[in-house]
Amino acid sequence: MIELPDKEFLPGHVAIIMDGNGRWAQARKLPRSMGHKAGVEQVRTIVKMSSRIGIKTLTLYAFSTENWKRPKDEVGVLMQLLIEYLKKEVRELNEQNVRFRSIGDRFALPKEVRAAIDEAEEITKDNTGLNLVVAINYGSRAEILRAANTLAEKRAADPDFVIDEQSFSEALDTNGLGDVDLMIRTSGEQRISNYLLYQLAYAELYFTDVYWPDFGEEEFAQALMNFAHRDRRFGTVK
Ligand code: IPE
Ligand code: IPE
Ligand code: MG
Repeated sequence: MIELPDKEFLPGHVAIIMDGNGRWAQARKLPRSMGHKAGVEQVRTIVKMSSRIGIKTLTLYAFSTENWKRPKDEVGVLMQLLIEYLKKEVRELNEQNVRFRSIGDRFALPKEVRAAIDEAEEITKDNTGLNLVVAINYGSRAEILRAANTLAEKRAADPDFVIDEQSFSEALDTNGLGDVDLMIRTSGEQRISNYLLYQLAYAELYFTDVYWPDFGEEEFAQALMNFAHRDRRFGTVK
């Protein structure tokens, strides 16, 4: 039996940097692509578990704006896996009442990826269970700049338009999803890598040495238990 926190102590919004696919494969003398394949299996596991235990929002980092700098073959493999995942999984996500959304600049993505994203969003748009958010061609600085430009245009059109924390967060790709409560990064790296800089302002951070393809239900439960024992003060005193 895996031990989980009581529901009231679960984070509402979990964001994960799924890192270490390459090193997982390398340790097994396999090509990096096999690590990414194994990583997709773990995505299935963690999405199902999140939906089952009642997490409200799960945001997964699948491809960063910086990941274009990888070898062309690897970028191709990652794009292909995204298409396959979305096409294969959408029916089951829908059955689980999961609402799928993607964040990041989708207009720079290959047409086929964009089409799969659009379709998954459309099919699941009325679902009320887990919000599954996948960050694809996502970079936080690019997102903040897009938001700044949107707000500047609104202000230019209407001098009374107020730019405050609310309108700013509404201009971000994560509009309506709320701040991150728990940010998990696998594989031992302890950095943010241009992920959700604005939304992580008061997130609890959890780092584990486990590579993403080994991050299963037990590891996720451990992270959630760890979160449940944190003392979140938000700048105040008790
Ligand atoms: C994470 O694993 C997957 C993506 C960034 C798409 P990596 O591919 O970064 O694996 P490592 O960090 O090289 O081990
Ligand atoms: C972050 O991992 C991006 C994703 C998990 C999609 P990276 O492996 O690209 O990050 P760095 O380069 O080690 O910071
Ligand atoms: Mg990495």
